[in-house]
Amino acid sequence: AQLAIVLGTRPEIIKLAPIIQECRRRDIAHTVVHTGQHYSPRLTEVFFEELQLPSPDHTLGVGSDTHGEQTGSMIAGIESVLLDVDPRTVLVQGDTNTTLAATIAASKLDVELAHVEAGLRSDDRQMPEEVNRIICDHTADQLFAPTTEAATNLRDEGIEADRITVTGNTVVDALQRHRRIALERNTLPEGLGDVPGEYGLVTLHRAENVDEPERFADILSGIDRVARAFDLELIYPVHPRAREVLSDLPVPDTVRPVEPLEYLDFLRLEAEARLILTDSGGVQEEACVLGVPCVTLRENTERPETIAVGANRLGGVSPERIAEAARVVLAADDEWDNPFGDGDAARRILEASAATPAREVVQ
Ligand code: UD1
Ligand code: UDP
Repeated sequence: AQLAIVLGTRPEIIKLAPIIQECRRRDIAHTVVHTGQHYSPRLTEVFFEELQLPSPDHTLGVGSDTHGEQTGSMIAGIESVLLDVDPRTVLVQGDTNTTLAATIAASKLDVELAHVEAGLRSDDRQMPEEVNRIICDHTADQLFAPTTEAATNLRDEGIEADRITVTGNTVVDALQRHRRIALERNTLPEGLGDVPGEYGLVTLHRAENVDEPERFADILSGIDRVARAFDLELIYPVHPRAREVLSDLPVPDTVRPVEPLEYLDFLRLEAEARLILTDSGGVQEEACVLGVPCVTLRENTERPETIAVGANRLGGVSPERIAEAARVVLAADDEWDNPFGDGDAARRILEASAATPAREVVQ
């Protein structure tokens, strides 16, 4: 295969789907490697079905473990597939341990490494994702930055301009392809988000927010204040990482925990929500593209474009600040320009990638 696409978690499947589909349309020989970092059917299988992707060509089944164990087994598994497949280019997305493992495996072999969603920075090295993206950006041969701001971050770190292409974010490609279908079909259970604008949508899964019960409880208390102040029910699809801690916490009456949702159901809920409260990267972007105000339940964001256009506000993790951020963002004008591109990112990425000559072998 010309291209090996490595993925392993929910957001990677969603954001790489437009690239995989574009490879299929253009007959670009490609192979898809699934590390198995996510394995619960609701975090992985459902997306292959909904996004009409063929099953991965290679599955490594690594599962959950400590960062070192998980990343280590992924490196070994990916290396073995790459030696077998011998691709010209390895393509990775974002900032997960899967991204990191593929970066390290590819960097030791004679292949070109391409990073989709390059150049994002939270400037918070406590986050495993920040370290993962820095390592990937400084290792990759080709960097596909979603915005000019992300490209500037890369250049500021000394990465040569000729390795960087601004492409937009494939999250927009996926949204454009699925938004109408999501709004037309309604497979949500009755009573879940029936009335547009009368509910808020919540997601929480960052290690720093959900692993620590006190911090998680503060966030719940903050979103409860928002629910009461604006008379909103809060629908909260619970990421498996948060499930256990949540079961030992008092969940406010205003918050309705549900299982993780399929992409189209989730998109519909996002599009018709009055407000989105989240610590997810992809959800901050989707809220911004869909025109729904967002409060980010973190102290920082690697998506500052959403804040600059007025779509998003940092709520931190204290109840007072969360309530205040919601008040401000709901009072503000909700017309803004989408900073993440025109939905043609997958095409740009593949064209730039195919145009690059294979890296010379240095022995
Ligand atoms: C990972 C990424 C994060 C990304 C998120 C997307 C890293 C370091 N983190 O976080 O950047 O935003 O995916 O959702 O790569 N679990 C299950 N079923 C699964 C997968 C996980 O129950 O299919 C539970 C396990 O208890 C596991 C925990 O979730 O220990 C954490 O999983 P892990 O893959 O380590 O990280 P995520 O929190 O999912
Ligand atoms: N998502 C979904 N169902 C859910 C929650 C999220 O389909 O119940 C989708 C959402 O539309 C977005 C992606 O998952 O495209 C975000 O993934 P996540 O929050 O797990 O990771 P992050 O973007 O923070 O890395």
